Amino acid sequence: MTTRIGIVGAGFIAGRHVDSLTALDGVEVVGVADPRTDRAEVLAARAGGAAHDRWERLLDAGGLDAVYVCVPPHAHGAVEDAVVDLGLPLFVEKPPARDLATAERLAGRVAAAGLLTAVGYHWRYLDTVELARRLLAGAPARLVLGAWLDRAPRVEWWGRQDGSGGQVVEQLTHLLDLARVLVGEVESGWAVGARSPDGPGDIQDVGTASVRFASGAVGSFTHSCLLPRGFRIGLEVVAPGLGLWLTEHQVAVSDAEGERVVERAFDPVEVEDAAFVAAVRGEGDGVRATYADALATHRLAVAVAAAAAGGGEVRL
Ligand SMILES: NC(=O)c1ccc[n+]([C@@H]2O[C@H](COP(=O)([O-])OP(=O)(O)OC[C@H]3O[C@@H](n4cnc5c(N)ncnc54)[C@H](O)[C@@H]3O)[C@@H](O)[C@H]2O)c1
Repeated sequence: MTTRIGIVGAGFIAGRHVDSLTALDGVEVVGVADPRTDRAEVLAARAGGAAHDRWERLLDAGGLDAVYVCVPPHAHGAVEDAVVDLGLPLFVEKPPARDLATAERLAGRVAAAGLLTAVGYHWRYLDTVELARRLLAGAPARLVLGAWLDRAPRVEWWGRQDGSGGQVVEQLTHLLDLARVLVGEVESGWAVGARSPDGPGDIQDVGTASVRFASGAVGSFTHSCLLPRGFRIGLEVVAPGLGLWLTEHQVAVSDAEGERVVERAFDPVEVEDAAFVAAVRGEGDGVRATYADALATHRLAVAVAAAAAGGGEVRL
């Protein structure tokens, strides 16, 4: 059985998905669409599919079993509407949109259509996160510290508030999502942020938020894009007798057994793509972040960003 996939957007993350998807048995990336036709042609050639200058042409070409949407946050909306109209399974890279209204509206359409969806919160697919969940099962988290201290990605839309939605919506969202998975829902909080004269674009380049979880745990999330490279990106979790430091590549554990570092065993994007393809084929449901899940994280990220830009209180 061949699963035929179309990719909208031919940038960095689309490239990661194409490499992972084309390594799966019975998966064909039959088309790639990007108004930057140079990129569409290069990625389509790498995938062994056709290049299109507009996503409409990719969908009109037909014969698809599922669609990946890997466009910048500001470009979500019309393409997802068209995929929902066709009733095709939909994979959307995070965040689901730059703003909340677009994501809310699409979530309603996806739910009404009962569409199979997945969103690119790939940290959920880390085997180290599974270990963290098991360790926390015995001792629920009491404190969470999330840090995304990094350089600004070198893409033109990232430094523009109307392009990316800002660092909280575009990057820190990974850690807010992970905290929701490991600790539960945030019920209140406070956030502040600032823009430095030499920061990128018009977004806040530093910020911090303190939150309270419904579980009674408390947390703090900080971000900056003023660094020359990734400096500190991960989540620290404290529970009685347990300390965890989770990054995209490993987890450091401190508990009664002592201290140890566990490297991840699998590339989470490969696990994520394999789970989505299996779900498209009706072979089990390993999808860990549906559109509805992603919307809940996006609501939190947008609320934290709005609080940092406005009065401070995180309004959920
Ligand atoms: N899960 C992750 O770790 C991860 C990593 C990187 C990026 N992302 C997310 O993926 C998205 C894309 O990021 P990127 O780094 O690949 O950006 P990018 O700028 O490298 O690529 C985006 C591509 O989308 C194209 N595009 C824009 N509008 C389009 C449209 N209407 N139709 C078709 N193509 C269109 C652009 O021309 C560009 O080539 C962002 O939302 C980002 O947050 C996720």
